[in-house]
Amino acid sequence: MEEIKLFTPATIANVSCGFDILGLCLDTVGDEMVLRKVAKKGVCITKIVGQDLPLETEKNVAGVAVLSLLKNIDIDFGFEIEIYKNIKPGSGIGSSAASAAGAVFGVNQLLGNPFSLKELIPFAMDGEKLASGTAHADNVAPALLGGFTLVKSYAPLEVIKIHCPEELYATVIHPQIEVKTADSRSVLKQNVPLKTMVKQMGNLAGLISGLYTEDYDLIGSSLHDVIIEPHRSILIPEFQRLKEVSKKAGALGSGISGSGPSVFALSKGKEIANKVAKAMTQVYENIQVDFDIHVSKVNQNGMKVL
Ligand code: HSE
Repeated sequence: MEEIKLFTPATIANVSCGFDILGLCLDTVGDEMVLRKVAKKGVCITKIVGQDLPLETEKNVAGVAVLSLLKNIDIDFGFEIEIYKNIKPGSGIGSSAASAAGAVFGVNQLLGNPFSLKELIPFAMDGEKLASGTAHADNVAPALLGGFTLVKSYAPLEVIKIHCPEELYATVIHPQIEVKTADSRSVLKQNVPLKTMVKQMGNLAGLISGLYTEDYDLIGSSLHDVIIEPHRSILIPEFQRLKEVSKKAGALGSGISGSGPSVFALSKGKEIANKVAKAMTQVYENIQVDFDIHVSKVNQNGMKVL
């Protein structure tokens, strides 16, 4: 194979109670990428359409992720990458992860898959580090593995794909303001009171249990974040109102998508997810905030070869 075209999915990280460890993959929103083998060694980003992002390999998350992969394999040719961005940087749905994970996935395919999907995660994380200052895996893991993922441990890195019920849908609304992950991490407190930790652990365990047992009510009652959300939600227009109207429209629960400003809600079935989208839309139309909105099934497969 000399060339490959990919759909590289958006993702929702944290999923309320799993800061830096939980993530899920979306189906209807993502970027496209074209990767091809070239005689010149290394990696060259030849084109970026849709966003103003750096073409220099060392300044581009896709470039950095591929350089990290190339350190682990001895080959005498290189790669060119074209990136077609639909996911806006600073939106909270894994824009940098889609590029970093997509790039290493595509290169691996062109090489005949010497690395497993899990082995690609650390390379993609190097791209994330460039984007946010932290090599978090909660967007790149679901982008590569699909479905719902849990980072059980960072050192050593241990990522688990967890069961996700078929009818789980996400609604994501993105107010058109940019919140850089690095900035939205800087507002967080470094210490958590014991009582707060107990609450968060209960919700995290409840969510995982709800996913495995397909107990939608338990999934909903576990979607609470008592640690991160109180600090970050102040950056998001009408955050509480979005949560209220989603619940009223039938959502199981809702929260901040990744580091924001996007807000997600999970629902059982597409019909309810669409109702939630309508309710969220009204909130922003009433206060004239520009936004994008997406309804998506959880994408069980991750990257798609087009
Ligand atoms: N876990 C990361 C954060 C995700 O919340 O900062 C960034 O998308």
